[in-house]
Amino acid sequence: MCGIVGGVTDRNIVPILLEGLRRLEYRGYDSAGLATLSSEGLQRRRAMGKIVELEGVCDAQAIDGHIGIAHTRWATHGAPSVANAHPHSVGKIAVVHNGIIENWAELKAQLEKDGRAFESETDTEVIAHLVESEYNKDQDFVAACRRAIAQLEGAYALGILCRDEPNTLITARMGSPLCIGLGVGEHFIASDVQALLPVTSRFIFLEEGDFAIVQKASVAITDAHGESVERPEKQSQLSADAVEKGDYRHYMEKEIHEQASVVAETVRGKTSAGRFLINTLGPEAPELLEGVKGVHIIACGTSFHAASVARYWIEHYAHLPCQVEVASEYRYRTTVVPEGTLFMTISQSGETADTLAALRHARSLGYCGFLAICNVPESSLTRESDLVFLTQAGPEIGVASTKAFTTQLAALLLITDGLAQFHGRDSLPDLSGLDNIESAIGQVLGLSERIRKLSEQFVDKHHTLFLGRGPLFPIALEGALKLKEISYIHAEGYPAGELKHGPLALVDEGMPVVAVAPDNALLDKLKSNLQEVRARGATLLVFADESAGFESADGIEVVGLPHCSEAIEPLIYTLPLQLLSYYVAVLRGTDVDQPRNLAKSVTVE
Ligand code: F6R
Repeated sequence: MCGIVGGVTDRNIVPILLEGLRRLEYRGYDSAGLATLSSEGLQRRRAMGKIVELEGVCDAQAIDGHIGIAHTRWATHGAPSVANAHPHSVGKIAVVHNGIIENWAELKAQLEKDGRAFESETDTEVIAHLVESEYNKDQDFVAACRRAIAQLEGAYALGILCRDEPNTLITARMGSPLCIGLGVGEHFIASDVQALLPVTSRFIFLEEGDFAIVQKASVAITDAHGESVERPEKQSQLSADAVEKGDYRHYMEKEIHEQASVVAETVRGKTSAGRFLINTLGPEAPELLEGVKGVHIIACGTSFHAASVARYWIEHYAHLPCQVEVASEYRYRTTVVPEGTLFMTISQSGETADTLAALRHARSLGYCGFLAICNVPESSLTRESDLVFLTQAGPEIGVASTKAFTTQLAALLLITDGLAQFHGRDSLPDLSGLDNIESAIGQVLGLSERIRKLSEQFVDKHHTLFLGRGPLFPIALEGALKLKEISYIHAEGYPAGELKHGPLALVDEGMPVVAVAPDNALLDKLKSNLQEVRARGATLLVFADESAGFESADGIEVVGLPHCSEAIEPLIYTLPLQLLSYYVAVLRGTDVDQPRNLAKSVTVE
């Protein structure tokens, strides 16, 4: 959500900034801008829309420099516009900012009283004014930044330039991620390592409250108390082309097809004799899991749907009470935490503001342990959790989450098995489906062309219902979320048995209904529910186990899926729903990877 890139080097920084922004564009794409210092002084270019628009502006009005900051925006304060685009510049100062300043209105009122005029509706411009006003007092850029930042309340990752300091870039973080890329005789900053992979693979990750002076030859960091600190250098394992689209038309398509290998990678080396190796979570994990008496899982969006599947699993296999909740609700309500309750978070990015806030809130509530499932090793969530299961999805660029979700499900199945080893010995899940998961996923993805053809039936629809039962109900929710977020078709997911309690009133010839029907104990119940729907004239698309006895007929299209073991059904039945949404969105001509109003990694509340 918003992306920052910056650097100080002997090279022309502009191509590095623009490439960095392209790599961060998935985090926000309302508007973009950059500022540099050169012999011409402080220069700035900004544009509405995507990075390509900014590139056009930079071509039309040439810009260069050896130090610079850049930003791609997802609007929070003020609509997308050139005036609201970052960097915000006041006098000799330019600022890029991710996050939200909560006391911006008070600060702005005071600055206006001091006679300052504002050009934008953003909270970021307040920071630029504050730094400038502090700088005017003693012309000490570093001290001015420190004094200004000390007045901010809320979340920020910052990059700040001063026209009088052509070798100094100031950066700071609180509540929004920021890393420093280390080069030889050059240093960079970014909100995400991916922005800097073409120039370095060596990174320092700032901690909450850190402030850094970044120069060509040095990086000096102080912590939240103003003490000098050394933060460890980390080597990124990501290659620069890990975030390329390759031959695929969209990142989402690429990421759907990567699932066979990344799910296999996520479970590789994690089992022995068909059971989860609990100590892969850390040496203290076995003792912790043994003492667990219940589980609370907190997440947002697609990650919440993964949590919702896990609730079925944990109660069924591990016989432990399990509660799941969206983070934005959990963090603001009173929760009763029975003794021995494990707190679990699930987040692809590990930077989702609501999930992080829920974790921080939960710290004081008496949980017995804190376990995170996350896809980003250096994220805030992994650093703040006691135990971490790192999924191996690799960078997920498409805004709609696909491979992150299925790797989360694989991780949750293993963790469920870990809990069941202590608490549900008579009901351990059958993990054998994970042994050949790569080919099982590959087989289902082989249905792409059939699903692409079926997607034509959805192009002119305004609504769609998704149905499932048991652990497949959250998969119906996930199918509906995918369809609405990338094709803008209104969609709802329901447990199939709930339709007759209200939603059946919506069903007519114009309402396609998609159902997921593995061959499990609920199959006959689901079949009856689908009869009710068909009787009301709805056209049905059923993704069903080949052996489930479904046959295509008038008004019912059945796509057979190879039989799979019960424990991996949610994972397998997610795949056709992802493909369906993808193809519907392509046919409708929407911006599949960067759907309107959304951005990846929601680092603001
Ligand atoms: C939907 C989607 C979002 C995210 C949600 C949580 O396709 O991607 O719903 O799942 O914003 O993000 P993470 O998992 O990064 O915490």
